[in-house]
Amino acid sequence: MSCIDVQCVSKLYGSIKAVDNITLSVKPGKVFGFLGPNGAGKSTTIKLLTTLMPPSNGSLSILGIDAIANPLQVRHKIGVVLQQPSYEPTLSVEKSLDKYGMMWNVSKNERKKRMERLLVDFDLNEIRKKRNEDLSIGQRRRVQVAREFMHDMELLFLDEPTVGLDPTARRNLLDYLKKRVKTGLTIFYTTHILSEAEYLCDEIAIIDKGKIITIDSPDALKNKFGKEKTIKIHLLKKHPDVSSMLSTISDCEINFKNGTNIIIHSEQSELVLLQILKILNDNGIEIEDLSAMPTNLEEIFLKMVRENSSDN
Ligand SMILES: Nc1ncnc2c1ncn2[C@@H]1O[C@H](COP(=O)(O)OP(=O)(O)OP(=O)(O)O)[C@@H](O)[C@H]1O
Ligand SMILES: [Mg+2]
Repeated sequence: MSCIDVQCVSKLYGSIKAVDNITLSVKPGKVFGFLGPNGAGKSTTIKLLTTLMPPSNGSLSILGIDAIANPLQVRHKIGVVLQQPSYEPTLSVEKSLDKYGMMWNVSKNERKKRMERLLVDFDLNEIRKKRNEDLSIGQRRRVQVAREFMHDMELLFLDEPTVGLDPTARRNLLDYLKKRVKTGLTIFYTTHILSEAEYLCDEIAIIDKGKIITIDSPDALKNKFGKEKTIKIHLLKKHPDVSSMLSTISDCEINFKNGTNIIIHSEQSELVLLQILKILNDNGIEIEDLSAMPTNLEEIFLKMVRENSSDN
């Protein structure tokens, strides 16, 4: 059985199709990454899946429950950290955690136990007495994510939880999430940071303009595009005709930056590179630096979003 089963779901805001006919499913114990540029429809999708609003069309099953017919049943079983900051300004960090546990009817003993663990796991011990309004943005975000773990849940939705976190806090959170997934938690995770998705997620969906462009494992995504390499050439000096000279080469996409940097994406990188070097050499154009590397996930993402835009 899937933990999340979304069939042909759309959401319209007036005439804007924020989510456009998406279908996806998430298996228990997995981390599903939802990636896309600003305005792609990530937060709207999270709001639909967490029953904060109903879809315009389609069907949604969360933990086997029809989420459109029984939103409250769903809400009792899931955790949600939305993109917007949410905190009570005058409460201290420890009171925030405790109050959240109370809201979820967690017993006093259990609340105390969980709070002490979370204060350590989220590196909040030193600031446990501080009021939320006196915290930094990153500290506040950590409290907002930590308090969600005060209650039991099978499925957790996180909408860009690492925004504002420094690299150490970011890595800590990702490792904490991985640990929880090992004990059976399922996570639906949005981000636009590809390296994060690659580190954490079992499957990645790329969404743009409300539509899912692709769903695959990080490895499969890389394999699909794995043949592609990025070649970077730095010329010693600007040359006015270099772009027209290279325009005759096929099987590649060439971009020029500042007149001296040439970036080439190609699946035939060796062939393309030979041709480029010949042209540059024949014309006496000197190279200062040259590198070729496999296209990373970040570039795959940008390319897919670009291609999706030009198709429309
Ligand atoms: N309440 C609303 N009313 C009207 N339009 C909205 C509303 N909320 C979102 N939208 C629009 O829906 C689209 C998707 O927005 P959404 O917030 O889901 O994007 P996102 O992928 O979460 O972006 P970001 O990365 O910036 O958080 C955008 O075009 C946005 O302007
Ligand atoms: Mg968003």
